[in-house]
Amino acid sequence: MSVAALVLAAGRGERLGADLPKAFVPLAGKPLLLHTLAALARVDEISRVVPVLAARDLERFAALGAALASIPKLAPPVVGGRERQDSMRAGLAALAPEFSLVAVHDAARPFVRPDDVRRVIAAARSVGAALLAVPVTDTIKRVRDARVVETPPRDECWAAQTPQVFRVDLLREALAKATSAGVVATDDVQLVERLGLAVAVVEGHPGNLKITRAQDLALAEARLAAGEESGR
Ligand code: CTP
Ligand code: MG
Repeated sequence: MSVAALVLAAGRGERLGADLPKAFVPLAGKPLLLHTLAALARVDEISRVVPVLAARDLERFAALGAALASIPKLAPPVVGGRERQDSMRAGLAALAPEFSLVAVHDAARPFVRPDDVRRVIAAARSVGAALLAVPVTDTIKRVRDARVVETPPRDECWAAQTPQVFRVDLLREALAKATSAGVVATDDVQLVERLGLAVAVVEGHPGNLKITRAQDLALAEARLAAGEESGR
C-alpha cells in the first residue's frame, strides 16, 4: 500500500498575526512549510509529499526555488480551499490512484518525528484510520456560555495531533458523507468517527506542537536554537 502525505498549508494564520501567511513565516531562517515538508519526506514509507496551498501563495512557493529542489518526493502544489476540510478535499481529489493510504498533516506542525509518523502509518494499515495524540495533563471542561457543562474523565482525554492516516477509499467515503450531511469537522478523523468506524490512537509526543500563536513561534525558535531539529 503506497502512502502519500498531504501537507495542509492553505490557512492564513490569523491567530499568529504575522505579516506573512503562516506557512512562510521563517523559523530558524527557513519558511515553516519547508521544515514540515522535509520532516515528512524523511519517512521511508511515504513516497510522495503534496503541499496544499492557497492560490495567493503559489508564486511565493515557487520563489523558494532551490530550497524546494532539495526536498525529495515533493509533488507540485495543489490549491486548497476556504476551510481546512476544503483543503483536505482538494488534496485528496488530486491524489494519483496508486496511493491507497494518505497521511494528512498540518503544515503548522514542523516538529513531527518520523518515527511517530511510521507508527501511525502502521496502525492505519491494520485498522483503516489512525491518529497521533497525547494524553492531556490538564483536566478538560466542556463549557458553554461560560458555564461548565461536563468534566469528562481525564484519563480518557487525549489531545489530537497530526498526521492522521487513512485508507484513501475510507476517507473519500467519510468526506462525501460529511459533505452531504453539511458536517464541517476541526480534524479529519471526526469524519470517520461519525460513521461509527474504528480509529486507532497512537501515542505521539507533546513536542509535536502546532504553531498557532506568537508564543508558539517563540518556543519553536528556542527549541531549534537549543539544537533540536525539526522532524528529528
Ligand atoms: N489550513 C488549510 N486550509 C484552510 C485552513 C487551514 O490548509 N482553509 C491548514 C493551515 O495552513 C494549517 C493547518 O490547516 O497548517 C491547521 O490550521 P491552523 O493551525 O488553524 O492554521 P490557520 O487556519 O492558518 O490559522 P488561523 O486559524 O489562526 O487563521
Ligand atoms: Mg485555522
